Amino acid sequence: IEMILFWALAGYVIGSIAFGMLLARLMGLGNLRDIGSGNIGATNVLRTGNKKAAALTLLLDGAKGAVAVLLARAFAGEDAAQAAALGAMIGHCYPVWLGFRGGKGVATFLGLMLALAWPVGLACCAVWLITAAVSRISSLSALAAAASSTFLLVFLGYGEMLLLGIALTLLIFWRHRDNIRRIRSGTESRIGQKG
Ligand code: G3P
Repeated sequence: IEMILFWALAGYVIGSIAFGMLLARLMGLGNLRDIGSGNIGATNVLRTGNKKAAALTLLLDGAKGAVAVLLARAFAGEDAAQAAALGAMIGHCYPVWLGFRGGKGVATFLGLMLALAWPVGLACCAVWLITAAVSRISSLSALAAAASSTFLLVFLGYGEMLLLGIALTLLIFWRHRDNIRRIRSGTESRIGQKG
């Protein structure tokens, strides 16, 4: 149990590195809190107009999820990998360094899913891409990908991760509650749009 707690904490620390915030600052793009949704993720970095910074944010926020899982798995096995995954998501969404005001966990979720159960991770990326191609709404695509992950875990043979999948999905929905309100009222911004 100490091992599991250790890897959850290690995941938290890795997940709490806010790459979007750091990149925006380093690249002189301003404070993400004053831009678009105010979120620290790739979607909002894209609203600065800098595609390279947005792509890099997506990549690094995803990579930290994968790294947390792979490290834990290598040193302590599959249960530790799941604990690290949960830790990384909580770290991204509630980083101590930003007064616990973090992101929405989408890139990190996709990255850790790819490391945890790659067929499910790939399928979630596909769901995100297809929904985004049709709707042009990042948050809606994230909600679709997260929700489908629970079914995908079961049908692709990763039932032992279902509880984790449900927890991560609930966290993503909770973090998107303002987005959900905007989607329902038809005011959610489209990908690349400034608002
Ligand atoms: O990854 C977060 C995305 O789903 C929504 O971001 O900035 O539109 O709230 P944002």
